[in-house]
Amino acid sequence: MHAPVPDHDPGKLLEDAETFIRQCYTELDREDEIEGRLAEIETEIAQTGHYDHTDDELAHGARMAWRNSNRCIGRLFWESLHVLDARDRSSAQDVYEGLCEHLEYATNGGDIRPTITIFKPMVRGERQVRIWNYQLIRYAGYETDDGVVGDPDSLEFTEYCRSRGWEGERTDYDVLPLAIETREGEPQLFEVPEDLVLEVRISHPDHVWFDDLGLQWYAVPVVSNMRLSLGGIQYTAAPFNGWYMATEIAARNFADGDRYDKLSEVADGLGLDTTRNRDLWKDEALVELNRAVLHSFERDGVKIVDHHTAAEQFGAFERREEAAGRDVTGDRSWLLPPMSSATTHIFHKTYDNRIETPNFFYQASPYEE
Ligand code: ARG
Repeated sequence: MHAPVPDHDPGKLLEDAETFIRQCYTELDREDEIEGRLAEIETEIAQTGHYDHTDDELAHGARMAWRNSNRCIGRLFWESLHVLDARDRSSAQDVYEGLCEHLEYATNGGDIRPTITIFKPMVRGERQVRIWNYQLIRYAGYETDDGVVGDPDSLEFTEYCRSRGWEGERTDYDVLPLAIETREGEPQLFEVPEDLVLEVRISHPDHVWFDDLGLQWYAVPVVSNMRLSLGGIQYTAAPFNGWYMATEIAARNFADGDRYDKLSEVADGLGLDTTRNRDLWKDEALVELNRAVLHSFERDGVKIVDHHTAAEQFGAFERREEAAGRDVTGDRSWLLPPMSSATTHIFHKTYDNRIETPNFFYQASPYEE
């Protein structure tokens, strides 16, 4: 998953292109086009040291990258990924507008559409576009005398934004600005328009006091800091989203001790004694937090999946891949939901964690460099 950006090497580029083109066109049942397309790419690389993907290569390649994402439990839906081609956007303003279109299209009033927007790739080893945010929508975090306000996971990026003149309102849920780097130089900051940020207030189906916790979360997780590696071409800005699995929010973002850390508050509300581990108060609080998140998203008509259903869907994905004659690779430690893991079939299996391409890779975060 962590892999350095490969050096620019036309020979290697042609080799990676060939592997991808053969697999892509075979899957699309267009074997007769392979040799012609390879000849074309070979000429293009010889003349320019680069080649451009066709729309079909881009779309199918992005879907393959999702299919190969070992840590993702949601891969059953890989073929339904909507691919928005934004390769013609060069200025930070253009990229910003592309990101706004992504948010609007993907959010779809709550009926979330799995979507990827693909910006200009690296050309001859030179980066053209990079989004510095981890996700397009993410809450800021501030160090204060009484501890962290907001999301502790965002401290460094928030600090960077502040160093660039951005000031948040200092609530627990300030949406961070977009930091977009292009060939124009230093990243430019843009506020995410409020009407593009769908958020859900968290309440509990049975406990009115839950509202007083003041919890909320955004509807669409758009991961924006990963590199899409496709046929030897590196797309350093290719933000993508699915919909949430409730445990991501309820059992991690709200529950982790180094995130919003809400388990004791929830347990207090439930009237539980939090002094004895063996009373399992954390477990009880986790279940109620998850019920609240699922209930609230459903109430607002925002698509979300519980971990039992997600695991079943992943099982269907494994069967479909087997039927298609492909091995499923996976990272079991990530595929397992953070609660009740042994109730899912994933717990009782092993997975091969080898990395296939096309795939998504982590990139060093520029503000920490
Ligand atoms: N776990 C991350 C979060 O809580 C989101 C990662 C992507 N999740 C997804 N369902 N596509 O924000």
